[in-house]
Parts: sequence; C-alpha cells; structure tokens
Amino acid sequence: MDLSTTAFAVNTPKFWGGEKELVADCIETGWISSEGPAVKEFESKMASRCSRRHAIACANGTAALDIAVKALNLSEGDEVILPSFCIISVITQVVRGGSVPVLVDSDATFNMDVSQLASKITPKTKAIICVHTYHFPVDMEPVLALAKEHGIKVIEDAAEMIGQTCLGRPCGSFGEISTMSFYPNKHITTGEGGMVLCDDPELAERCQQLRNLCFDPKKRRFVHEDLGWNYRMTNLQAALGLGQLLHLDEAVQRKREIGRLYSKLLKGCPGLILPPDDLRSETNIYWVYGVELLPSVPCEADEVMKHLAAAKVGTRPFFWPMHEQPVFLQMGLFKGIANLSDEHGRRGLVRIDL
Ligand SMILES: Cc1ncc(COP(=O)(O)O)c(C=O)c1O
Repeated sequence: MDLSTTAFAVNTPKFWGGEKELVADCIETGWISSEGPAVKEFESKMASRCSRRHAIACANGTAALDIAVKALNLSEGDEVILPSFCIISVITQVVRGGSVPVLVDSDATFNMDVSQLASKITPKTKAIICVHTYHFPVDMEPVLALAKEHGIKVIEDAAEMIGQTCLGRPCGSFGEISTMSFYPNKHITTGEGGMVLCDDPELAERCQQLRNLCFDPKKRRFVHEDLGWNYRMTNLQAALGLGQLLHLDEAVQRKREIGRLYSKLLKGCPGLILPPDDLRSETNIYWVYGVELLPSVPCEADEVMKHLAAAKVGTRPFFWPMHEQPVFLQMGLFKGIANLSDEHGRRGLVRIDL
C-alpha cells in the first residue's frame, strides 16, 4: 500500500478499538509465542463460528493450504482438481508434493465452473480444491455430490469468504478441510495468519503436527517420522484475531455497504461488467469489488489501472490463471490446455476499500 502516491489505497486494514488492549496483554504477560493461550482461544472461537470441531491456527493462508494438501496423504501421481483462476498458494503444495494438478476453468462468477467437474474426474482423482473467489462461494452442492459419488476429498479455501454463508452454512464448514487467511485485506486480520478447519480428530492432529515440524507428542522429542514446517501462529497474532473476530459481522456488513455503493455509483458506466448483489441463495460479500471490462472496451485492464493510478486511485489486477504461469510452463505442466477460455486475468481489476 503506497499512501504517498495513492490517495485512495486499494485496502487499509480496519481496526475496531479493542485490539490494542488484547495485544498489549500479551506483552504484559510475556505470552508472545505460539504457546500462549490466545492461540487456543482463537482456534476454538473460529471453529465454533465455522461449525467445525477443530481449528489449527497457522502462519498464513498459504501455509494453511500447504498443511491441508499434505494432510490428505496423497501419493505421487494422484490428481487434484482445482481452478485455474486463483492465487498460486492453492496449487504449490499439490505440485511440490508430486500430485498432478488438473485445472478447471472459471465462469462469470470468477469461481470454478462446476459444470466441468464431472469431465475432469478420473480413477486417479483424489481431491478437489474449491476456492471461493471475490464475491460469492463456489456452487458447493454439485461439488459435494460428485465428491461423495466418487470418494473424492474436498478442500475448501474460504480465505476470501470469512463471514460468508453457502447453502445456509458458514463458509469454512465444507469438505474434509477448510482453510483461511488473515492477511490485512481479509475480513479478519492478524497481520499475517491463517487457519485450517476440520471435523476429524485424526486429521486435526496431523495438521497440528505438520504445522509444528512434525514433532510427535507421543514420541521422544526431536525424533521425527515425517517432514513438516514451522507454520505456527504467535500469541500476539491470535490476540489481534480475537479482537477482530468480535467484529466480523460488522466487517461483512461494511463490505456489503461499500460494494453496493460502488454498484450504485458505477451503474450505467459504459464498458464495465459490475458484480451482482446476489447469486443463488447467497448475498455478495464483496471481499473485493471486482469489475471486468466488456469485450467492446479496446484495451486491457492494465491500461485502465494506469489511468486510475494517475488519478491516485489504487487498484489491483485480477489473479493470473495457473495455466499461463511461467513457473509451471517451465516445469512442463499444462501443455496443450490453452483451450481454457479464462480471460478474467486480462480484463479485470479490483478495489477493496472506498
Ligand atoms: C483464496 C486465497 N487463498 C489463499 C491466499 C493466501 O493467503 P496468504 O496471503 O495469507 O498466504 C489468498 C490470499 O489472498 C487467497 O485470496
């Protein structure tokens, strides 16, 4: 965020007032590491908010995805279906772990086009990663039905939908494992931070170990049976998260007010596709306010962003699809799948705040 050149920063974190005391308390009591009590309290409150039995706080949303993917114990060559239009965090552990990413195109909602899912399933498919993107949750009903029919595990990346519901249930409650991010542009922030949520106690234990270098409390300390990471969340971060969680509903309401105001002000502006306020039974959460340029606009989003920057209005480009990432093309991945019609990356831009 460069406030010197951007009068309207793309996002500024929102604090509600009580956070300072909670963080100060960590310093006063000396509980600053991941061993502190706020971590467990934050986990327990997030679990209950998301109707989950277990929550495992961790370093960031990417770490949460790494843990979730590794916890599924996939074998080399197992296939994992995921959207092409997403942040790279979704795919990295799939690739590093030796599984095969199978990409699905996104539809006009920016979410995975679930009508393509059935055609991507093979006997090697072991998992589907659903990533709720920008405005609405993925259409989970057909995903869950297919997963059940074929015995496929579901990971739900709910980083952008903290406080959103889907089919009358909280986002973060779907599939075997859900993940979240608490980066400052999310509805709850801990500076950096993330969470894994699940119901199965064995899976929760595995995630806890993966977060903590695979220390095994049942074995001699410093003897390891597997490789994990130090992806622990500090007590300072969790304390901030507890203060933020108290105001989650207000944060969501504020985002909806911002989103609706943008829609009102931009209505009738030629060349723009504006996000709808609702879809199926869900109300837009406006994690970002994402607009796309109509095909009739003779330039790409980068050009529009330059004009907005000159007017000191900060924006971010859309995600760039995985099938066009140089790192994966250099690895020989996604050859011959240029048929993904995903144009969102070139045509879209987002703002978060007003
Ligand atoms: C859907 C989604 N998943 C994962 C992440 C990664 O989270 P983090 O930046 O906390 O690693 C993000 C970040 O914006 C995200 O939007």
